Amino acid sequence: MAEDVNILEVLDEVQQNGLAALATVSDEAGLQAWRTAHLGRSAPVMLAFTRLGQISKELRPAVGQKANQVKLTLEAALEERAEMVKTASLRQKLDTERLDVTLPGRRTALGRLHPAAQALSEIIHIFEEMGFQEYRSPEVETDELNFELLNIPAHHPARDMWDTFHTTQPGTILRTHTSPGQIHAMRELCPKPIRVILPGMVYRYEQTNASHEIQFNQVELLAVGKNITMGDLKGTIQGFARRMFGETVRVRMRPSYFPFTEPSADVVMECFVCGSKGCQVCKYSGWLEIAGCGMLHPVVLQNGGYDPAVYSGFAAGLGPERIALLKYQIDDIRYFWQNDIRFLEQF
Ligand code: FA5
Repeated sequence: MAEDVNILEVLDEVQQNGLAALATVSDEAGLQAWRTAHLGRSAPVMLAFTRLGQISKELRPAVGQKANQVKLTLEAALEERAEMVKTASLRQKLDTERLDVTLPGRRTALGRLHPAAQALSEIIHIFEEMGFQEYRSPEVETDELNFELLNIPAHHPARDMWDTFHTTQPGTILRTHTSPGQIHAMRELCPKPIRVILPGMVYRYEQTNASHEIQFNQVELLAVGKNITMGDLKGTIQGFARRMFGETVRVRMRPSYFPFTEPSADVVMECFVCGSKGCQVCKYSGWLEIAGCGMLHPVVLQNGGYDPAVYSGFAAGLGPERIALLKYQIDDIRYFWQNDIRFLEQF
């Protein structure tokens, strides 16, 4: 009996010792160690529960109650201490880690459109405002569409004007200009009047220099209808140049030759790069060619399904990269496809 009463005193001592030990704990590891020692399976208060059976019946409820109260007290104290430790470590972290809100932020690199794509979309936009609709045609073409139906039969000397990339499939090539799109559009839209632009990439197997690349964009213009004249073509080209470069821009049309137009002309603009003084871009002429154009040849109209006795039309092929050279005063077309970020970031 005396021994059983002693147990109650021992349990009081267990509680006091536990609380005293907990008061010295200051970190997470200490909390873990304390939990094992004072509330773990072999902790004195837990052993009291396992030994209840050995205690006299009369005292058993009192010892059980006491052990339970000690356990709850220790658990509550542990919870409180854990909260204190957490707050203290957070405070310490805040004291040591400082945030300087006056420091400049890190700039995120923004993507942008390639200068050729910018020029291309500006050209498309201007012609769309003039009433032309966009029409797409393939980059891989047949020899027939790229040449023959455009009045350039095999062995015609004019084929030398466009050095060609051939594919492994006979008769299939990378288009050398956007003009085969004229046939696609006419055959699809015949006999309706047509006013379309055909933008896209073209490929030529030629020596590169400051104004010539092996791949570049073209924008083909095509208008077919009744009573369309060279005056309409000139007005369209001049209207475009004014919108692209400003009212005072000087544009000339000089006689030229294309097998698919008659008469034919080249559109030249004064060279902004050198102020018309002469440079490597304009080949020291003061003028830079930006487009070829002309009135549709009767053979081409016929190949497109239109009767040349009733219909007439004009076409032009503009070079957006050449136009971008002038617009942004770039002195070499080869920068466009070198992918040098220092060049591209300027636009
Ligand atoms: C043609 O390609 C004709 N298809 C244009 C045409 C269309 C004439 C409709 C008549 C009717 P040309 O080869 O001149 O023509 O090229 C047209 C434009 O593309 C040139 O004025 C120039 O601006 C651009 N260009 C030509 N070759 C290159 C090149 N190697 N690199 C960059 N731009 C070029």
